[in-house]
Amino acid sequence: MERKLKLMELVVISVLLVLLSLSNKTNARPQVPCYFVFGDSLSDNGNNNNLPTLAKVNYPPYGIDFPQGPTGRFCNGRNMHDFIAQLLGLKDNIPAFVTSKGRNIFNGVNYASGSAGIRKETGSNLGVCIPLNRQIKNHKTIISKITRLMGNYSATNLLLKQCIYSVQIGSNDYINNYFKPEFYDTSRHFKPSKYATLLVQQLSLQLKTLYNNGARKFAVYGIGQIGCTPYAISMYGTNRPECVSKLNKGATLFNNRLKLLIHQLNNNLTDAKFTYLYPSGGPDLAKLVGNTPCCTIGGGGGELCLPDSKSCKNSSKYVFWDGVHPTEALNKIVAKIAYTSESPLEASPLNIQQLAMW
Ligand SMILES: *[C@@H]1O[C@H](CO)[C@@H](O)[C@H](O)[C@H]1NC(C)=O
Ligand SMILES: *[C@@H]1O[C@H](CO)[C@@H](O)[C@H](O)[C@H]1NC(C)=O
Ligand SMILES: *[C@@H]1O[C@H](CO)[C@@H](O)[C@H](O)[C@H]1NC(C)=O
Repeated sequence: MERKLKLMELVVISVLLVLLSLSNKTNARPQVPCYFVFGDSLSDNGNNNNLPTLAKVNYPPYGIDFPQGPTGRFCNGRNMHDFIAQLLGLKDNIPAFVTSKGRNIFNGVNYASGSAGIRKETGSNLGVCIPLNRQIKNHKTIISKITRLMGNYSATNLLLKQCIYSVQIGSNDYINNYFKPEFYDTSRHFKPSKYATLLVQQLSLQLKTLYNNGARKFAVYGIGQIGCTPYAISMYGTNRPECVSKLNKGATLFNNRLKLLIHQLNNNLTDAKFTYLYPSGGPDLAKLVGNTPCCTIGGGGGELCLPDSKSCKNSSKYVFWDGVHPTEALNKIVAKIAYTSESPLEASPLNIQQLAMW
């Protein structure tokens, strides 16, 4: 009898141990407690849904491969930051600022807004958006809420300095500002090199404001090849499948200055770490259809999918979901590159995984 009991105990204990190890696995600690996202439509996850603007996508076929359907993500499914949050071990999607509430803000918040730029007038040709300065103001509101929930400042600061702050912005300062002279006068006032300098100077102040609000781990993205999107080629290009070089040249001027800024910020603010990311898709990109969007475009300002329109059979074979935004498949590829790349062209000085551990 006693023997039997002992055996039972043993079984119970080992079952408990197995359960414990399983629960440990599913609740693996995230590498950082929180992920804050600033940016434009490449990052937006619903902040524009109720704004009066053409730059919003709360309708199908957006979100057709996303469990929740259309969410305001400019994609058939998840964006790059959804995948990065997942790679960082953060369980839930990072909430959009406009719908964030309660304690889920402890995981971070996404402030990004389609058509937004570094400059406040950028994107206004499409309607209302949330420019970067306003996104940073919204972040201060969230910090006050966190402080109220935490009960004191020191606990809040301890949390804030461990988070990753992603800043991916600047494309619209070109495609929805400088290169739309019918709406904006920036190209009449500034040469491309001067304009890039001004943008990066303003971004420098914005990054320092985040630093002054407790941020210490910064992931800052270069602008992609904005002259190679199907929409840019149809707008500006010849009928040949080549990229629009003036757009790409603008992006390169900006990126070169941004890399220098990141270097300087690391030298000057030694208790913080800034990293420059340019995850461009690599060899996987060449296997995908690169010059045609998956959906039927014509919505928004012409670059977005038409509401309820048909899309291609298999978006995983495409780079572009609509006229300018990548598919979920591409977002997954570039997220992995940003997270793990050892190439200084793609991540310098650190990839996201290293930034998390720093
Ligand atoms: C702030 O909160 C932390 C963690 O809850 C606690 O350890 C600390 O004593 C608090 N500090 C003050 C000044 O209340
Ligand atoms: C870094 O510090 C140097 C020397 O004080 C200064 O000239 C430069 O403007 C600073 N750069 C940034 C981005 O803060
Ligand atoms: C879609 O394409 C991807 C990449 O070529 C492939 O792995 C996948 O099996 C395809 N899915 C379907 C449903 O055909």
